Amino acid sequence: MKMKRNWNERYSIADYVYGEEPNEYFKATLANLHPGKILLPADGEGRNGVYAATQGWEVEAFDQSEQAREKALQLAQRKGVRINYQVLDFQQIYDTYPKENFDAIALIFAHMPPEIKSGYFPQLPDLLKPGGHILLEGFSKNHVTYQQKNPGIGGPPDVEMMYSEELMRELFPDLEIITLSEQEISLNEGLGHNGLGSVVRYIGKKR
Ligand SMILES: C[S@@+](CC[C@H](N)C(=O)[O-])C[C@H]1O[C@@H](n2cnc3c(N)ncnc32)[C@H](O)[C@@H]1O
Repeated sequence: MKMKRNWNERYSIADYVYGEEPNEYFKATLANLHPGKILLPADGEGRNGVYAATQGWEVEAFDQSEQAREKALQLAQRKGVRINYQVLDFQQIYDTYPKENFDAIALIFAHMPPEIKSGYFPQLPDLLKPGGHILLEGFSKNHVTYQQKNPGIGGPPDVEMMYSEELMRELFPDLEIITLSEQEISLNEGLGHNGLGSVVRYIGKKR
C-alpha cells in the first residue's frame, strides 16, 4: 500500500514523470514486430501503451496507481487512440487476463520486489500466443553505482528490484532468447530518467 501511495504522489504533478514519448528500446523493438495484441504491466502514465496504440496495436495496460491511469487515458485522448487500462496489482494479473491471448508483453522499467518477480513473472509466457514475445528494459543490478554518481538517472531504491542477464534466463527458461544484453545507455526520459545508467534488455519468444 505504501508503494502505491508513493507512486500516486509521484504522478500527481502536471508533467509526465517519464515524459510522453515512448521508451526508445520499446519503440525500436515494436518496429520489428507485426502489430497485434500487447499487454503492458506497470505501464505508468501510458507513454508506451499509447505509443503502441498509435502503431496499430490493440493495447491492454495496467498499473497499481489510479493517478497513472488517469494520466494515461488523458494522453491517449490527446493522441486520438484508445487503450484498455486497468488499475491492478501485478498479483492480480492471472485472474484478469486469459491465457494464450497476447502477441507481446512489454515490461519497461517494471521494477518489482523479488517475491513478485519469482512468484509471478515465470507464468507470463502462458498469456502469450505461440510465437509471441516478451520484451523488457529494466535497470541492471550494476545500475546502483550509476545512481550513486547521478541520482537524476532514477531507478528503484533497492538492488533486489533490478535485473541481471542471469535472472532473465531463470525467469523465462522456456522462451527462445532473441536478445539478452546488459548495456550502459544514456536516458533522457522526462524528469525521472536522465543521464547514464545500466540496463538489461531482453526479447524472448514463445516457441
Ligand atoms: C518506473 S515506473 C515505470 C512506468 C512505465 N512502465 C514507464 O516506463 O513509463 C514503475 C511503475 O510500476 C508500477 N508498479 C510498481 N509495483 C507494482 C505492482 N505491484 N503492480 C502494478 N504496478 C506496479 C508503479 O506504479 C509505476 O507506475
